[in-house]
Amino acid sequence: MRRQARFTPLLVRATVACLTCTAVAAGSTGRARDQDAARTRVSTTVWDGVYTTEQADRGKTLYGQSCASCHAGDLRGDGTAPSLIEEEFSFQWSDSSVAELFEQIRKLMPSDRPNSLPRQSYADIVAFILQSNKLPPGEKPLPPDADALAKILITMKRR
Ligand code: HEC
Repeated sequence: MRRQARFTPLLVRATVACLTCTAVAAGSTGRARDQDAARTRVSTTVWDGVYTTEQADRGKTLYGQSCASCHAGDLRGDGTAPSLIEEEFSFQWSDSSVAELFEQIRKLMPSDRPNSLPRQSYADIVAFILQSNKLPPGEKPLPPDADALAKILITMKRR
């Protein structure tokens, strides 16, 4: 009898632990499924022509005024400021949305006076960065709107 009394709480504890672990496992597969769903919902990528050449030209001028002093005229960076093109760009931004790139730049850059440009200027600069990464231009400019930009996936794989 005394033996059973000692065993019951153990059994209860084990059962509770097991329920918790099932719940955690169920929760994490649920999250994984949400992420997969989010990824399949993203139907636009940076390969679909998401900025215009005119916009990238405006962005180039703005970049020259506000970014080139640190990231260099050719976007390759200068030691402290990282390169914004090629492997550095794809390593940092693949599988992010354009909204993440836009918001990060807007909130942190230029690093000596963050968020000091109009949203439109940040969108134009992002267009120039996409162009500099050899992503194709299209018919419509990149909007300065984070919700719209969240639907555009950065990927280096052309579909
Ligand atoms: C005064 C120097 C300076 C200026 C001007 C500046 N940056 Fe930066 N930038 C940095 C430094 C230093 C870093 C790396 C440290 C950090 O993230 O704060 C950086 C990081 C970044 C990153 C993150 C890169 C990565 O791979 O993580 C992006 C994107 C970026 N800058 C874009 C811009 C753009 C666009 C502008 C112009 C609007 C700009 N920067 C202006 C110094 C600068």
